[in-house]
Amino acid sequence: MWLSCILLFFVVINSEAVIETASDEILRGSRTYIKEASPINCAKVPPTFWCTNAKLTKECGFEQLCDRYSKATKNEKLQLTIFYESLCPDCQEFIINDFYRDVYLQFGDFIKFELVPYGNAKNEDGKIKCQHGEKECAINKYHGCVLHYMPEPIPFIVCMEARIQDGSTLEKSAEKCYYTFHVQPHVADQIIHCANGDIGDKLQQEAAKRTAEAFPDPHKYVPWVLFNNVSIESQQFLISGLPIAICEFYNGDKAPGHCNSIGSNSRTLNGCAKGYFLDQDIFEA
Ligand SMILES: *[C@@H]1O[C@H](CO)[C@@H](O)[C@H](O)[C@H]1NC(C)=O
Repeated sequence: MWLSCILLFFVVINSEAVIETASDEILRGSRTYIKEASPINCAKVPPTFWCTNAKLTKECGFEQLCDRYSKATKNEKLQLTIFYESLCPDCQEFIINDFYRDVYLQFGDFIKFELVPYGNAKNEDGKIKCQHGEKECAINKYHGCVLHYMPEPIPFIVCMEARIQDGSTLEKSAEKCYYTFHVQPHVADQIIHCANGDIGDKLQQEAAKRTAEAFPDPHKYVPWVLFNNVSIESQQFLISGLPIAICEFYNGDKAPGHCNSIGSNSRTLNGCAKGYFLDQDIFEA
């Protein structure tokens, strides 16, 4: 009895205790807190910060790589590639909402878009088999033609995906979108001709090749995103935060205006500006 009491007491004391680990850290439960500030450790600077500040770049010796990156990307549009397939529900949702509303409309001027309507289809000796069947193959092919012939194809693709999501057929949705966007008849004719024939097939073969050559990681699902033509599996989570990713990767003298308002839907993240002090008498009143 006594022994168990003492043991219990010890356990309680112990779990409340602050355990000191390294000299500059303390562990409370499973959380670690910093006790003393340590100088910048260049080995621990997150890669996304490496080229963001000249002082840091120099201090930590990132200059060579950062110079190369800066020269190649300065004021260049960011290349955004989307692998998708027309009947995958997540692709439809992504294209209609996140992609169109939050990326195309807000950051359109800062991005080079590439849509690849092929997704998880299989290419068996030149015969394409789509994940959601023949219907999907026909729509993917149609999209390929729209992307090829229309000067501003994305709103049209979004329009078609929205109709198709609502249960409309390929023909009906296309017809409706031609009408909505006042597409010139000769452009519509080109697209329809393409979608019914060999040109559309050739474009699908190109989309298959484009999808297969993603480097270094092949796509595992759709929608799938590439930034400046780099395909990284572990970074696909960025697809649910594209505005943040774009603001992070775009390397212009001026950040896109919408970067300032990220996260400010419900509250402002501008913080408290330094150098602004309340009147003393507010405290004294
Ligand atoms: C992207 O990279 C692939 C594979 O390295 C290459 O074949 C292709 O031409 C590149 N495409 C673009 C649009 O940069």
